[in-house]
Amino acid sequence: MRTHQSLLVAGLVLLPLGAFALAPRATANDPTWAGGGKLGTAMQTLQAGQQKIGKALDKKDFATVLAQTLEMEKAVQEAKLDTPPTAGAVKEPDKKKEFVAGFRKQMIELQKALLDLEAAAVGENVDEAKKVFDERLKSIKKDGHGKYKGD
Ligand code: HEM
Repeated sequence: MRTHQSLLVAGLVLLPLGAFALAPRATANDPTWAGGGKLGTAMQTLQAGQQKIGKALDKKDFATVLAQTLEMEKAVQEAKLDTPPTAGAVKEPDKKKEFVAGFRKQMIELQKALLDLEAAAVGENVDEAKKVFDERLKSIKKDGHGKYKGD
C-alpha cells in the first residue's frame, strides 16, 4: 500500500515537471523571441511600429498611422513596468531606485509623444504628426537607449 502511495505521489510530482520540459518554448527561430525578455519583445513591437508609421505618414495613410500608434502605446504600457537589464549593474539601492524611476519617466515621455501623435493622426494633421514623429519620438528613443539600453 505504502509503495502504491509513494508511486502516486511521485507521479503527481513528476507529471507537471514532464509537461514543463516538453512545453514548446520560444527560440531564436521564433519571431516572438527577442533575447528572451518581455522588454525586448516590446521593443521589437516599437521598432516595427516606427518603421510602418514613417512610411504611412509619407502616404498620408492615417488609418495605418493610428493602428500602429495604438500598437506602440500598448507596448510602452507594458515596457514601462519592466526593469531594464542594465539596472542589474547598479548595486546601491537608492541609485538603483533612481535608475529604474528614470527609465519609467523616459517611457512616460514616449507615451505622451505617442498620444500626441495619435491626436494629430485623428485630426489628419500630417504636419503635426510628422513633427511629433521626427522631433520627439526619435530623440526620446535616442536618449532612452543612451541611458538604459547598454551595448
Ligand atoms: C520609438 C521608440 C523606441 C524604439 C523603436 C526602440 C527599439 C528598440 C530595439 C529594436 C531594441 C533591441 C531589442 C532586442 O532585439 O532585444 C531595443 C532595446 C532596448 N530599448 Fe528601445 N526603443 C525605443 C525606445 C526606448 C526607450 C524610450 C527606452 C528607455 C526609456 C528604451 C530602452 C531600451 C532597452 C533598455 C533595451 C534593451 C532591452 C533588453 O536588453 O532586453 N527604448 N529598443
